[in-house]
Amino acid sequence: MARVVSGIRPTGKLHLGNYFGAVKNFLKMQEEHECFFFIADIHSLTTHPTPGDLHANVHQVLAEHLAMGVDPDKCALFVQSDVPAISELYTYMNMNAYMGELERSTSFKDKIRSQKENVNAGLLTYPVLMAVDILVHHAEMVPVGKDQQQHLEMTRTFANRFNHMYGKDYFKEPQAYSGGGDLVKVPGLTAQGKMSKSSGDADTIMFDEEEKGLRKKIMRAVTDNGPTEPGQPKSEGLQNLFDIMQLVSEPSTIAHFDALHREATIRYGDLKKQLAEDVLTFVSPIREKIEHYKKDTAALAKAAKIGAEKANESAEKTLKEVRELIGFRKFY
Ligand code: ADP
Ligand code: TRP
Repeated sequence: MARVVSGIRPTGKLHLGNYFGAVKNFLKMQEEHECFFFIADIHSLTTHPTPGDLHANVHQVLAEHLAMGVDPDKCALFVQSDVPAISELYTYMNMNAYMGELERSTSFKDKIRSQKENVNAGLLTYPVLMAVDILVHHAEMVPVGKDQQQHLEMTRTFANRFNHMYGKDYFKEPQAYSGGGDLVKVPGLTAQGKMSKSSGDADTIMFDEEEKGLRKKIMRAVTDNGPTEPGQPKSEGLQNLFDIMQLVSEPSTIAHFDALHREATIRYGDLKKQLAEDVLTFVSPIREKIEHYKKDTAALAKAAKIGAEKANESAEKTLKEVRELIGFRKFY
């Protein structure tokens, strides 16, 4: 059993890609490991949300993760700002992070370009806060994708520097973890690569979306003019629909449409109708649970509270040791 930490950015509603690429992994890990999953609300201040939006997004993400089966009794599901020790360790770790290395981080360079009008110091020290999220619980495994590898490398640098500075092998080096298999990449509906909020509303199958809207979206998914002769390869858009089918449909359904495509007798309308049916069968019960949790403030409060208790217990133990190592020793 290893210690696992993962941060969830509260940036709106979840789609099928988030489920198969991240949440499903959480469901597996919570059965096997000691997991700390948190909603990264302090991180999100780098984009200056209004207080109302910040709270609404945390509320949404918490309800969605509970609805999808993240179980507060099996893991620590918590809100980052509920754990003050994180902010304290962030202050200390900032003293051991150098401007040069922070400025070289790819995420910082990207942000300088994408939010020119708001290049705040929090963006520069984002990797420090992320390192703290991980180190404060002595995590050994961090389930993140390729885009976060550099942050993880920096986490190892900060951990080793701290250990070296205070002459103790205190922090472990955390490793990236892919959930035991290849990470699933869910394609979107508009043939622009992976399903992503940033590819527009038509691209994503959201969990918190009305049935009618979802059906319409799938019927409008990008395909092609249809095969003109047997044995033609699938276009990108069509392949994407088959890839989504792999996640939500019966193998016999996929085999059926595959055969029709090979024979060049497929009707994309039929394929899309079936896909919409299967997507709805998968998404609808989760959507209902999301609706339920969003209104069930007692359940949200209970989950956030036990999550905070577990995370605070782990983080406060670390801080007690860190203060001692740094030399903050009490006179009283
Ligand atoms: P988006 O691209 O829609 O903004 P995020 O970047 O907020 O999504 O993703 C949150 C999590 O979900 C990350 O762990 C990310 O790797 C995963 N994820 C997002 N989209 C996909 C996808 N299409 N396929 C697989 N995983 C995904
Ligand atoms: N940086 C991560 C992302 O953009 C979110 C995150 C913050 C995180 N702190 C973390 C992930 C700690 C893993 C561990 O998706």
